[in-house]
This record gives sequence, structure tokens and C-alpha cells, in this order.
Amino acid sequence: MIAILGAGAMGRLWAASLPADETAVIARPGQSPDTPLSYTFLALDGSERTVTVPWLAPSQVPELVLVTTKAGDTLTALEAITDTLPPTVPIVLFQNGLGSQQQVAERWPERPVLAASTTEGANRPSPGRVVHAGAGATWLGPMTESANAIILAECAATLASSGLTVHPESDILGRLWQKLVINAGINPFTALLDCPNGDILHAELFQNHIDGLCQEIANLMEAEGQPKQAPSALRERIETIARNTARNTSSMRSDIQNGRATEIDYINGFLVRLGQSKGIATPVNQMLAERVQQLSPN
Ligand SMILES: NC(=O)c1ccc[n+]([C@@H]2O[C@H](COP(=O)([O-])OP(=O)(O)OC[C@H]3O[C@@H](n4cnc5c(N)ncnc54)[C@H](OP(=O)(O)O)[C@@H]3O)[C@@H](O)[C@H]2O)c1
Repeated sequence: MIAILGAGAMGRLWAASLPADETAVIARPGQSPDTPLSYTFLALDGSERTVTVPWLAPSQVPELVLVTTKAGDTLTALEAITDTLPPTVPIVLFQNGLGSQQQVAERWPERPVLAASTTEGANRPSPGRVVHAGAGATWLGPMTESANAIILAECAATLASSGLTVHPESDILGRLWQKLVINAGINPFTALLDCPNGDILHAELFQNHIDGLCQEIANLMEAEGQPKQAPSALRERIETIARNTARNTSSMRSDIQNGRATEIDYINGFLVRLGQSKGIATPVNQMLAERVQQLSPN
């Protein structure tokens, strides 16, 4: 059984896509719902269907756990299940940003922990409705030593049984860093300016701070042993993605609009903490993180 921890937009996308008789969702601690999870799923081709997923029974031992909570909830959510989860069961983390993956790997270094970086898009416009909003791909790679090549290949094959595109990735941290650059350069600006991605490009806040931000990220990437990147190249990538997704609302803006906690602590906040530990100044990341934190109920 493939167990999904965190039945939000991403968790429900996987639950709707994986083989129905092999997938279950994990209930929050202390909850044992009487009826299966049921929702309307709007697929990429516009078709709608009802998806019904059972809750994992206490007696069931999953072969794989997909963790699709927000970054800030991940450690607590996993702590509630690891007592009863055999130590050999792979755990796949789907969180955006960086920091939560390392927290899990450091907390359970003996377990096979993998991280996923996905460009699939899903949202939940109402509690009972999930939309597969954008086709993408998912890269999967090891965070601990026991997540060896065989486990990685098996997990990738299991996830690919969903029909979604899945690639094994030996350098998953490198891929997560590439995504972090984009998220750090777009999300806080969209949240602070309350605008879609493309509209940040001509805003004074972005124009005044993007070069400083890219310099800080380039310094941190180099200190972390990531391939050296010119700040101007980072800026170009951020601006290209902002242009290509001009009408999109970032998850951070959407979280603020809906009064939900953002993942700022695992995006610009992660960069600030890394800078502190490496003695690298990050005033722009700090300003962005603090201003977004002031807007959100974190
Ligand atoms: N959605 C996307 O398109 C997308 C794309 C790429 C990456 N991601 C990443 O995937 C992660 C999940 O995103 P999302 O959009 O699916 O967020 P979401 O809709 O907020 O889903 C998170 C789910 O986790 C549940 N949860 C929180 N704590 C829990 C616990 N202790 N035990 C069990 N369930 C718990 C929440 O329950 P409640 O509903 O009760 O709060 C919620 O249903 C994020 O890190 C995000 O950055 C998402």
C-alpha cells in the first residue's frame, strides 16, 4: 500500500493518479474518519471524476510513504507515524524549498528518506474539489544513505505507476536548489505586491532588490558546494520564469490571500539561516522573509 501523509492538493493529485487499490491516506493523529476520503478531481484534459481513497488502517503497513504536508508541518506529521512505521519503509518528501528535507534526514538518518522536486501543479479551489492545474514532471533522489540506488529505482517505478512523469535524480539537492532560486526570486515579491508572477518585473521593490538577492543566493550556493552561478544568470532565470508564468498566482501569494501560513521559512528564511551559519550576509533575503512573515499567520 502507498500511504499519503497530507491530504491537500498535492497529496490528492497523487492519490487520484496512483492505482486506486494500492493507495491510502493517513489520518491526522487521533482521527479515525468513518467514511473514505472522497473528492471531485478535475484532470488536465478537463474531465471530472469522483475519487474515493480509503484511510490507512492501523493494521496496514505501507510499502512507501509520500509526505505531502507543507514544509512547516512535515516533521510533526512524520513524528506522529514513525513509531509504528517499520524502519525500512521509504519516505518521500514533496515539500518545496529547502530545510525541511534536511530536518527529516537528520532526525531519521537510518531511514530511507528521499526528496521529490515536482513541477506538477495542483490546487484545491474548494474543500471537495482538486484541480490538476499544470502538467510537469517529478524528480526523485536520496536524502539519506539507506535510500540507495535500488530503493530509488523502486520508488520511482512505484510513483510512475500513477502515469505522471517521474525521473530518478542522484543530485536531488542540486535540483531543489535550482527550484529554490526561482521560488526565492518570485514568491516573496508576488506575496508582498499581491500580484501575479509577471507583474513583479516592473515593480520598484523587485527592481531595487533583485540584484542584491541574486548576489546573496550566488554566494550561498558557492558556499554550499553548488555549481558556481553568476548573479546575472540567476536574475535572468528568475525573470524568464516570471515572464513565462506571468498570469499565475504563486503559492505564497495564494497562502497570504487565504490567511494560511506560507513556506517563507523554507525559502528566503532558509537562505537567511544558511547565511548565518556560514557568515554570509543576507540582508535582502532577511528583509523579504520578515516582511512576508508580518503578513502571514506563521
Ligand atoms: N500544490 C502544488 O501544486 C505543489 C507543487 C509543488 C510542490 N508543492 C509542495 O507540496 C507541499 C504540499 O502542498 P499542497 O499545495 O498540497 O498544500 P496543502 O493543500 O496545504 O496540503 C497540505 C496538507 O497537509 C495536511 N496536514 C498538515 N499537517 C498534517 C498532519 N500532521 N497529519 C496529516 N496531514 C497534515 C493539511 O491538512 P489540513 O487541510 O487539515 O490543513 C493539508 O491537507 C508543499 O510543501 C508545497 O510547496 C505543491
